[in-house]
Amino acid sequence: MKNIVITGGAGFIGSHVVRRFVTLHPEFHIINVDALTYAGNLENLKDIETASNYEFVKLDITDAEAVNKLFSDKKIHGVIHLAAESHVDRSITNPIDFVMTNVVGTVILMNAFKTYGDAENGRFYHVSTDEVYGTLGDDGKFTESTPYDPNSPYSASKASSDHFVRAYHETYKLPIVISNCSNNYGSHQFPEKLIPLMIHNIKHNKPLPVYGKGENIRDWLWVEDHARAIEMIYLNGKNGETYNIGGNNEWRNIDLVKKLCEIMDRKLGREAGTSAQLITYVTDRKGHDFRYAIDASKLENELGWSPTVAFDQGFDKTIDWYLENEVWLERVTSGAYSDYYQSMYSNR
Ligand code: NAD
Ligand code: TYD
Repeated sequence: MKNIVITGGAGFIGSHVVRRFVTLHPEFHIINVDALTYAGNLENLKDIETASNYEFVKLDITDAEAVNKLFSDKKIHGVIHLAAESHVDRSITNPIDFVMTNVVGTVILMNAFKTYGDAENGRFYHVSTDEVYGTLGDDGKFTESTPYDPNSPYSASKASSDHFVRAYHETYKLPIVISNCSNNYGSHQFPEKLIPLMIHNIKHNKPLPVYGKGENIRDWLWVEDHARAIEMIYLNGKNGETYNIGGNNEWRNIDLVKKLCEIMDRKLGREAGTSAQLITYVTDRKGHDFRYAIDASKLENELGWSPTVAFDQGFDKTIDWYLENEVWLERVTSGAYSDYYQSMYSNR
């Protein structure tokens, strides 16, 4: 059985990727490597934690000694690297954490894979973001050849790690692939991100903080479609290549929040228009990218991927998940979350 390390498997996207590989690929032994930061939660994997081809290792990827020990103890065939500091607003207040995990951690992992892993026949897959390309105006989409132009400390750290991954391919012939994906939505997302934060606030009748005028645009993709793209790229992508992944599904933030309010009013049995009254325009994010949109035609043409879930359907399912998993949502929003929320939103 081939050992595959998936980093960040206790996080939002990582948990979907781990579940997919554990359930669909009995030929792989999946080692979920995660430091369990505020964003990591093993409850996200309760349903598969006893599977015979699954193992969890609590480890910080910036700890080179621990990473080297793991890779020298077990023959690692491949790595799917998702562990990261992932929230733009946190990167504005604390950029160093992003440099450490996203840049230094990625290089430590590649060094370990290069030294001890199956760098001949295996693969190092870096999961990245479309934010590395910077911001778009009203027209056009990001392609794989769009120049990197990151604007936030988060996107600068992901761009930097992408460059290191590509450099390891050129310099050491490390077999790598990179994908750059647009905004994901779905179950198990930490409620610092737009959609679960708004769901939580609507439930509790709290103000809905829309940054600036709410006119910024994001391209939303169902997280399971991202996980499926990652599976296809890991299995069939070409070494040294980059693939863009997107939902072809652009929304202005304010329109998305209004749609969410309408659906929540229905689901919570509130009079139409009730939740929208909570919308509050707040000071804009510093350096806020205006628009992201992805051209995923390379992935569609070369590997036959396309999104499978229509936004209306995926959005409805997502909202139901947060409403049905009240215990999960209340647990992750207790403790440190209220301090985070205070510091981020109280003076906006
Ligand atoms: P997340 O914040 O939900 O999860 C990150 C996970 O990484 C957590 O489980 C956390 O415990 C772990 N982690 C953080 N620092 C670590 C460290 N030093 N050592 C080991 N583990 C550590 O993030 P996400 O939204 O699931 O994103 C996963 C990846 O996908 C990231 O690399 C992100 O840049 C990328 N991405 C995210 C999106 C999105 O919309 N969320 C879109 C495109 C790409
Ligand atoms: P987010 O979910 O943080 O993802 P990203 O910044 O990586 O795209 O934010 C999505 C959009 O929603 C972004 O334009 C910022 C905006 N936003 C708000 O208006 N209010 C909020 O409270 C948050 C968290 C985000």
